[in-house]
Amino acid sequence: MKTTIGRELSVAIDLLSKNEVVAIPTETVYGLAGNALNIQAVQKIFAVKNRPLNNPLIVHLAAADCLTEIAENIPELAWQLLEKFSPGPLTLLLPKKYIIPDIVTAGLMNVAVRIPKHNLALELLRNINFPLAAPSANPFGYISPTKPEHVLKQLGGKISYILDGGTCEKGIESTVVGFENDTVVIHRLGAVSMEEIKKVAGKVIVKNKETAKPASPGMLSKHYSPKTKIIFTETPEEFLKDFNPEDVGVIAFKKYLKQVPTENQILLSPAGDLNEAAKNLYSALHVLDSKNLKIILAEKFPDKGNGKAINDRLGRAADLS
Ligand code: TXA
Ligand code: MG
Repeated sequence: MKTTIGRELSVAIDLLSKNEVVAIPTETVYGLAGNALNIQAVQKIFAVKNRPLNNPLIVHLAAADCLTEIAENIPELAWQLLEKFSPGPLTLLLPKKYIIPDIVTAGLMNVAVRIPKHNLALELLRNINFPLAAPSANPFGYISPTKPEHVLKQLGGKISYILDGGTCEKGIESTVVGFENDTVVIHRLGAVSMEEIKKVAGKVIVKNKETAKPASPGMLSKHYSPKTKIIFTETPEEFLKDFNPEDVGVIAFKKYLKQVPTENQILLSPAGDLNEAAKNLYSALHVLDSKNLKIILAEKFPDKGNGKAINDRLGRAADLS
């Protein structure tokens, strides 16, 4: 199959209406989208990604008004969060209505929903009469794409169209939250920080850790993983003695390591801005992973704001590398 990168909304609409899958831009990462109400379309998403069927998908809507069409018993706190963060990188777990096929939620009672803050994605959603199920547009377990070229590299030949919406502004996935007894529970750290959610919700519980039976089954450590081995550490320089400097890649916040060639090092934000660092994270992993290095040394980021989500992703990438 030939894969085209283009900006034609009409091509994407046509394919999606025929229950085909299309890669679409969002403000977080590129998604692999299909009609969330059509079982065949959703099956294609799982097949193209090689994703296990026990890992549910996020449903994307054009506006919060459409929420009651697919979810019910929506808590007041959910509306308050939506008011503040929608459209935006916040995904809510809400009791699903019958219209959402079980395959979308992997048989769970809740459906994950979000309204993306990306003009082209929103225009697309407004011009179709069904919501879009869309996981990140990478093969299961690999690095999420933040540019059309990342999608092409990973899924080229398997899908026919990548809707080009430029580089994703946020660069890491949405924050996934659920509700337990009127308390917000963060199931996946993401582009909306815990601190921001706390300001609206008051109390927040974080259950981001992998457990034997995760409430968010996608929270397995086999995520975001490049092929090159990664060491995730507060002190990258300590590991240099074990390698030839030419074989080492570095992902750092603000400062290069003296001993390693700078072309193998990527600073995520020389200015020290954690949002900018998040935006550059996956690109850096894609670039360094294609250099045939022996090791990538990834520095621990400050444990606040988007630094928490960056550390979460790097930790998972290192776990399985
Ligand atoms: O930013 C994002 O969220 C991107 C863009 C494309 O919207 N999407 C994304 O999807 O990251 P995906 O499939 O790569 O990750 C979805 C996460 C997984 O951890 C999954 O387990 C969780 O959300 N999830 C989805 N539906 C769920 C449900 N019904 N209950 C619990 N967790 C759910
Ligand atoms: Mg993903």
